[in-house]
Amino acid sequence: MNRIESIYSFISESDRVVDVGCDQAKLGIMLAKRNQSSIASDISEKVIEKAKNDIKSDLIDLRVSNGLEKIKEGEADTLVLSGMGSHTILDILNNTKLRFNKIITISNNDHDLLRVKMNELNYMVDSEQIIKENNKYYNLIVFVPGNRKYNDYEINFGLNHKDKELYNEYLDYLKNKYKNIKKSSKNKNKKISSLLVLLDA
Ligand SMILES: C[S@@+](CC[C@H](N)C(=O)[O-])C[C@H]1O[C@@H](n2cnc3c(N)ncnc32)[C@H](O)[C@@H]1O
Repeated sequence: MNRIESIYSFISESDRVVDVGCDQAKLGIMLAKRNQSSIASDISEKVIEKAKNDIKSDLIDLRVSNGLEKIKEGEADTLVLSGMGSHTILDILNNTKLRFNKIITISNNDHDLLRVKMNELNYMVDSEQIIKENNKYYNLIVFVPGNRKYNDYEINFGLNHKDKELYNEYLDYLKNKYKNIKKSSKNKNKKISSLLVLLDA
């Protein structure tokens, strides 16, 4: 499964989806194929103009919007934020009063920060999935309303992972990566050392 197919697999037919940062609106196209309408928005006017030219489906409501600025209360209950960094994801959520039943993220970085800060916004991890696309790993996280206590391992490597085989492959990849960083760095890298301890536990 690629990234967009994985996001799709976490969406039910009754979900009212807004895909923020939709780019080519690939998710909206997949949803429209099963007759599901959705909102697909992007900060870039150019991106939305192109999508409007390419996509001829009444089921995809394409909008130019910085984050959730152009989304009204009650229009969506499921938010997708994929292909952006954790800081952008958190900025978007900090700048809205809207609440969602489900938020599906694929962040490019800082998943530990995302789990912690989402908890402060009253969204807790429901489940996660590692995706491998073009030989690169991606960490999908599904958040739902609520908060929970995480241990250090969960903050850094997640919880309730769906594809255990790929998850273990990802952990092996991280272990090797951190070992190489440790070997090549002259100064003691405390963060990397503590992550390695967690992975070896
Ligand atoms: C790398 S693309 C990801 C496309 C798609 N969601 C995916 O996962 O393949 C990131 C998109 O997010 C958009 N974007 C970045 N910041 C945004 C913001 N604050 N609000 C809405 N869209 C944003 C960019 O214009 C770009 O089209």
